[in-house]
Amino acid sequence: MSLTGAIVASGQEATTTAPGGGWYTSAQASSGQLLFNNYCAECHRPDLTGADGPALKGAAFLKTFGGQPLSELYGVEHTTMPAVNPGSLPASTLLPITAFILQQNGLPPGDVPLGETALTRTLPTAP
Ligand code: HEC
Repeated sequence: MSLTGAIVASGQEATTTAPGGGWYTSAQASSGQLLFNNYCAECHRPDLTGADGPALKGAAFLKTFGGQPLSELYGVEHTTMPAVNPGSLPASTLLPITAFILQQNGLPPGDVPLGETALTRTLPTAP
């Protein structure tokens, strides 16, 4: 079995523990940026500094969501956002958007796209 196969096969465990293993792929974050601009930027700004909604990057943001499983952030996005139509976006849209948010907060890219098995990973309080 290839290394990639081993990581995919062991799923959650590998993505939960891989140190410095990256959180998303750069391609995923790029597509997430386009989706973010469509669905989120009107209230959070394209650079995530916040407008009608709070900033989605920086120290305050990482203080809110850091030290907790990524599912906390993802859960907020999934159930309350976009504020105009909460819960309307599927995982196939929200995962790339989340990848983009993590990228903007300085978390490293890697070889494996952000997936639902990674939602158990603990977000750092600083990148
Ligand atoms: C119509 C405006 C609007 C849109 C569109 C919108 N948001 Fe929000 N967002 C808000 C507001 C307002 C809050 C604060 C809500 C609260 O505190 O109860 C918020 C809060 C959040 C939070 C919690 C931030 C924190 O520090 O607690 C996250 C995460 C978030 N939004 C992500 C998103 C994502 C991802 C999208 C796109 C899928 C999105 N939002 C689209 C207005 C919006």
